[in-house]
Amino acid sequence: MAVILALESSCDDSAAALVTSDRQILAQAVVGQAERHAPFGGVVPEIAARAHVEILPDLVRQVLAEAEIEPGEVDAIAATAGPGLVGGVMVGLLAGKGLALATGKPLVAVNHLEGHALSPRLSDADLDFPYLLLLASGGHCQLLEVKGVDDYRRLATTIDDAAGEAFDKAAKLLGLGYPGGPAIEKLAKEGDPTAVPLPRPLVGSGEPHFSFAGLKSAVQRAVASGEHHPADVAASFQQAVVDCFVDRTRLALEASDAPSLVVAGGVAANQSVRGALEQLATDYGRVFSVPPGWLCTDNAAMIGWAGAERFAAGKVDPLDTPARARWPL
Ligand code: KG4
Ligand code: ZN
Repeated sequence: MAVILALESSCDDSAAALVTSDRQILAQAVVGQAERHAPFGGVVPEIAARAHVEILPDLVRQVLAEAEIEPGEVDAIAATAGPGLVGGVMVGLLAGKGLALATGKPLVAVNHLEGHALSPRLSDADLDFPYLLLLASGGHCQLLEVKGVDDYRRLATTIDDAAGEAFDKAAKLLGLGYPGGPAIEKLAKEGDPTAVPLPRPLVGSGEPHFSFAGLKSAVQRAVASGEHHPADVAASFQQAVVDCFVDRTRLALEASDAPSLVVAGGVAANQSVRGALEQLATDYGRVFSVPPGWLCTDNAAMIGWAGAERFAAGKVDPLDTPARARWPL
């Protein structure tokens, strides 16, 4: 059994975790930076990077103390090396390199998207490769066939906004806080999802991709009209995103015979999304798997798990590994 010490710093969550190759999360800690960015209405990259500098060392100390593990007892150090806000990625990656140097343990440079993509295998020991994955986060919206570690086939991506970005923009238009996803989900519970007519971009088309920009513009018009209750706008918006997910994922299911359907990334924390995708999987005779909500939004446990999977496959990285702002799977 290998013990992995992991760091995550690609956006506005600072996180550390200790994860084992047999799926134990020995300790983990996440500190969100929402209140530091709130006055600016979105994540400010330099503020995020500076906050990681302040927060990460304490989180490392905290998880080691909680698990009662000495740094020298870990088998490898995993750190997010991209994609993301590159200043923050540099902070976490360099911290990981420092720990690797100090302990003499190997560095595993993890692609944040692979962290999300493999996270369902941390919570679900029965989930084998290959599986069809809807990865919906603040920066990405993709359908992937996950065939193994480092082995992905991309079936669809977004031609404009990411799904989480759409939630965040809709929330901003409704005057809700950042991040928008949880705020929209909460408000949507009080609204009627059929009240506001909103478009479902690309639904019904044979093209496999996603599009959310037109939906955002329609929300903007609906809010500006003053004709609708905010809860109805939130509920109708959420339903439109769910309908897009279901339609696009159906197309992918028809193109893939992977036995399982999995959803991951921050937007997968949404109960309506989880419910609709579970129903779709059932309709297509596929096994459904989704990580618990806390494992869907950014955390270091998923980086530790991806690190464990890569370490087991002999994939370790040199100390001159670069931080990458862009890094497609
Ligand atoms: O995976 P994640 O934590 O960070 C990225 O890698 O981007 O995803 C963050 C995104 C944000 O856009 C946030 O609004 C969205 O996930 N999100 C949600 C929910 N929780 C987080 N969207 C819809 N419903 C939620 N409950
Ligand atoms: Zn993420």
